[in-house]
Amino acid sequence: MQVDTLILGAGAAGLMCAAHAGPGVLVVDHARAPGEKIRISGGGRCNFTNMHTAPEAFLGANPHFCKSALGRYTQWDFLDLVGRHGIPWHEKTLGQLFCDRSAKDIIAMLLAEIEAAGAQLWLGTEIVDVARDGTGFAVTLRRDGRDVRVHARALVVATGGKSIPKMGATGLGYRIAGQFGLPMTETRPGLVPLTFSGPVLDRLKPLAGLSLEASVSCGGTSFREGLLMTHRGLSGPSILQISSYWREGQEISVDLCPGQDLFGALRGQRQQSGRKAIATALAEHIPARLAQVIAEDAGLAGNLADQNDTRLRALADRAGDWRLLPAGSEGYRTAEVTLGGVSTDALSSRSMEARDVPGLYFIGECVDVTGWLGGYNFQWAWSTGWAAGKAI
Ligand code: FDA
Repeated sequence: MQVDTLILGAGAAGLMCAAHAGPGVLVVDHARAPGEKIRISGGGRCNFTNMHTAPEAFLGANPHFCKSALGRYTQWDFLDLVGRHGIPWHEKTLGQLFCDRSAKDIIAMLLAEIEAAGAQLWLGTEIVDVARDGTGFAVTLRRDGRDVRVHARALVVATGGKSIPKMGATGLGYRIAGQFGLPMTETRPGLVPLTFSGPVLDRLKPLAGLSLEASVSCGGTSFREGLLMTHRGLSGPSILQISSYWREGQEISVDLCPGQDLFGALRGQRQQSGRKAIATALAEHIPARLAQVIAEDAGLAGNLADQNDTRLRALADRAGDWRLLPAGSEGYRTAEVTLGGVSTDALSSRSMEARDVPGLYFIGECVDVTGWLGGYNFQWAWSTGWAAGKAI
C-alpha cells in the first residue's frame, strides 16, 4: 500500500499533523481509541493550552529551538480552532484554558479535522518494522493479525514519550531515532510527584492529605502554586513543576508562607497573646499539623512569650525555607511527561524534519522539548504537529 504521509501515533501531535499534512495521510496507533492522553488530561477537561505560552516555559538542551513552531502556530491559533468548533472553554488559573464540558470535545474536534482533510486512521495497529526505502520509507504494520506493508514518502514519528506505560507509552520514537542515527538526550520523568524515605518520610507521612499554597525552589527556579502532602512524599502543581528541574541528590526548598512577613506577624502575635503556644501561633499561617512539625524542626516549644526575636526569626526562616532532600520521583508510572528525547540538534525547528534523513519528522513529546504544567505540553504538540504538517 502506498501513502504520501504515514504518521505513527494518533495522540495530540499526530492528529494535529494529520489535519494539516495534505492528501494521502494514514495515521496508525496501537491503542483502541485515539488521543487517550487528551481524554484523561486536566482531570477529564483537558487543559488544552496556556494563554501565557512563551519559550521560557519550555525545557530542553536548546532553549531557542521551540521558538519557531510556537511562534508560527500559537495558543491563539489553537483557541481559534476550538472556537470554530463551538467548544465552550474557560480560564482556570495562571492562563490555563480548559474545556467546560469534557476533553472528549477536543478529541472530537481533531477527528472532525482529520476527516475533513481526508486522512485515514487505523487503530489497534502495531508498528512491526520501519526501514528506509529509496527516498521514502517502508513500514510493516500488524492489523487484525495480518502484516501490512506501507510505503510512504514522509514518515512522522508522533509516538510520545515513556510516561504512563499503562496508557500505551512505549518509547518507540526514541528507538526509531536511534535506528536512523539521530542523537538523543537523556530521558527522565517530568511533572511527577517527589518521593522521600527514612526519617524525612516519617515526618511527612502523618501530614498526608494536607494542601496549601507554597513556593517551591530548586537550583534557582521557583514555582508558587498548590502543594499536596502524600503518603509517599510531596505532590501538587508546585512540586510537579519543580520536579522537571530537580536532579537526584539536590535539596528542594519550600516556602510555606510565600509573600508573607512571618517574622513580623509572629512578633505581633507575641505582643498581643504571648501565652499562645508557639505551634498554635504558627497554625494561624499554615495548617496546624504542619505548624507542629515546623516548630519541632526548629527546636521550639512553649509559648510565644518564651521566644526571643532570634528564635522567632529561626522559626520564620524554617517555614520560609523548609529544606527537604527527595529520595526520588514516582517515575514514569505517574509522570505527566518525559523530559529529554530526540535531540533538537538533529531537527529543523521550522519543519521538525530530521536534518540528515529527508522525509523523517519527529513531533510532540518525543522531542527534547518539555513544557511546564498548565497546557504548555499540548500547545507544543499542536504547534509541532502543525509545523510538520505544513512542511510536508
Ligand atoms: P501522546 O502520548 O499524546 O500520543 C502518542 C500516541 O502514540 C499514543 O496514542 C500512543 O498510543 C501511540 N503509541 C505509542 N507507542 C506506540 C507504538 N509502539 N505503536 C503504536 N502506537 C504507539 N498536557 C497539557 O498540556 N495539559 C494537560 O492537561 C495535560 N494533562 C496530562 C495528564 C496526564 C495524566 C498525562 C499523562 C499527561 C498530561 N499532559 C497534559 C501531557 C500531554 O498529555 C502530552 O504532552 C501530550 O499528550 C503529548 O502528545 P504526543 O502526541 O506527543 O504524545
